[in-house]
Amino acid sequence: MLSPKSTATLPPPSTAALLLFLTLALTLTLLAHTIHAATPWPHHQTQTHNNKPTTDLEFGSSKKFEGSSEFVHLNFLSSISAPGPGPTPPTTTTTTTTHRQSTVSAWWRTVRLYTDQTNQNISETLILGQEKNDRFYSHGKSLTRLSIQDVIKSAVTSRTKPLPINPKSGLYLLLTSADVAVQDFCGQVCGFHYFTFPSIVGYTLPYAWVGNSATQCPGSCAYPFAVPTYIPGLKPKRAPNGDIGVDGMVSVIGHEIAELATNPLVNAWYAGQDPSFPTEIADLCEGIYGTGGGGSYMGQLMEDGRDGATYNVVGNGGRRFLVQWLWNPVLSYCFGPNALDQ
Ligand SMILES: *[C@@H]1O[C@H](CO)[C@@H](O)[C@H](O)[C@H]1NC(C)=O
Repeated sequence: MLSPKSTATLPPPSTAALLLFLTLALTLTLLAHTIHAATPWPHHQTQTHNNKPTTDLEFGSSKKFEGSSEFVHLNFLSSISAPGPGPTPPTTTTTTTTHRQSTVSAWWRTVRLYTDQTNQNISETLILGQEKNDRFYSHGKSLTRLSIQDVIKSAVTSRTKPLPINPKSGLYLLLTSADVAVQDFCGQVCGFHYFTFPSIVGYTLPYAWVGNSATQCPGSCAYPFAVPTYIPGLKPKRAPNGDIGVDGMVSVIGHEIAELATNPLVNAWYAGQDPSFPTEIADLCEGIYGTGGGGSYMGQLMEDGRDGATYNVVGNGGRRFLVQWLWNPVLSYCFGPNALDQ
């Protein structure tokens, strides 16, 4: 498939990121209507539990390395772009041999099973094209679904280092820091993907937004590194990169990138009767991270014997991540590289 032209050079991590904007090169195509959203998990069980975001969790106060956030993202993205076998994961308390191939690139193989409108598989590589940091909150600390497009417009039309405009194989990712409020964040979604309107941005660009939930609703959007207060006795898992908000974002980013790649203009791969509420390849497996997952059980995960961190894939440099499984169209079930019976 068409190869991305953008450079894969990773800039050094900078501090105090507010809005991080990434261009990802990929191949895929066109047209559409309907909003898609990744809902928070675990699902707010029943109507008897309130649907309000939990904003005052004790671990909501965790804020560790804000400045390291971008570094984690970049590593996650560069891990995806790494073709071939990744490094061997560290020793785990569960079956190490079974998990040896549980890499980020192996996780992306499920996405590759999908084809675009020209019948070609989704490309094997995803390349971080460029990033832009909006550290001065150019559009304020409260964004709506529409004003997100203004942020994107500013990024691609900026006088200094504008992001490349690539409607054909570019994916745009807007990441907001923990102090930015976004319409529907926490109550309904942890992230979503859609495409920009030519009337606002000048182009139809597939994009996703993912928010850092550390202070606003970690129990919803950074689960299982934080847990909802309405489930008594549930203990949070240790975040593999030491940052609850960012480790929680990684899974949402994975979810959105998988869907952006397979359904960039929200008209391609989805299941269900109602195209206004499409269920896409990541939606189908929301909350499932390992063998046996389903309902409120995430499935068999890996726990690092050294620090107790919970994860299911390993990327470049042995960096650990927890990402949800994706719908495998060949097997017709949710699948991930840490499956025990592969
Ligand atoms: C491309 O997609 C087809 C259809 O799902 C699949 O059978 C094939 O294995 C895919 N190729 C790769 C390299 O993933």
